Amino acid sequence: MSLFDEVAKSWDEKPSRVINARKVGSSLLNLLPVSKDWKVLEIGAGTGLLTFYIQPFVGKIYALDSSSGMLSVLKEKIEKYKVSNIYPLFLDAEKELPEGEFDLVVLHMTLHHVKDVPSLFNRISSRLKVGGFLAVGDLVKEDGSFHKSNKGVYHFGFSKEEIFRYFKDARLEPYVFRVVHSIERNGKDYPIFLACGRKL
Ligand SMILES: C[S@@+](CC[C@H](N)C(=O)[O-])C[C@H]1O[C@@H](n2cnc3c(N)ncnc32)[C@H](O)[C@@H]1O
Repeated sequence: MSLFDEVAKSWDEKPSRVINARKVGSSLLNLLPVSKDWKVLEIGAGTGLLTFYIQPFVGKIYALDSSSGMLSVLKEKIEKYKVSNIYPLFLDAEKELPEGEFDLVVLHMTLHHVKDVPSLFNRISSRLKVGGFLAVGDLVKEDGSFHKSNKGVYHFGFSKEEIFRYFKDARLEPYVFRVVHSIERNGKDYPIFLACGRKL
């Protein structure tokens, strides 16, 4: 059972998660030339907070997640809102990515749960069309106090230098790194960035 299966049903009840997805989603829509022709892969889509936000502006979104619990909630929402362009995929991205070429691959609050970032970014790069984008929304480097438990957390956020190095090593040109929001927790502010790299 995935760590996220247990929290899936109540995931959307925390307003800070919904607001964060909205802030990252709106920044993504402002910064990238998003189009209705785009085929998008979201890794760690969870219950689809970001997926639903960007869905009206793109063609198809493949919403990949390794938690069946999170995906069941996503599937319920797809039925409830009668959305026809979100395709849930039950996969562990550290082991497998779907075949095909994508205009955009996006991760929202997922990268800090990925053990081997260089390996994932290399595989993502090979799935991007030339000119396609990788967009990452995540925590700016923090002191390890953001999560109640750090089980399954492999990175305490990321600096701009780290993310750009990962992009370059995966043959992606750094495009932008911008702090787009801040989550208040434990009396502290945790800035959230959106970083994009482009396949040349
Ligand atoms: C913090 S949640 C974020 C979910 C969603 N993006 C959001 O913003 O609400 C991280 C998600 O990444 C998924 N995840 C973590 N590691 C993964 C992996 N290796 N492959 C696929 N999904 C993964 C988890 O199951 C979880 O749904």
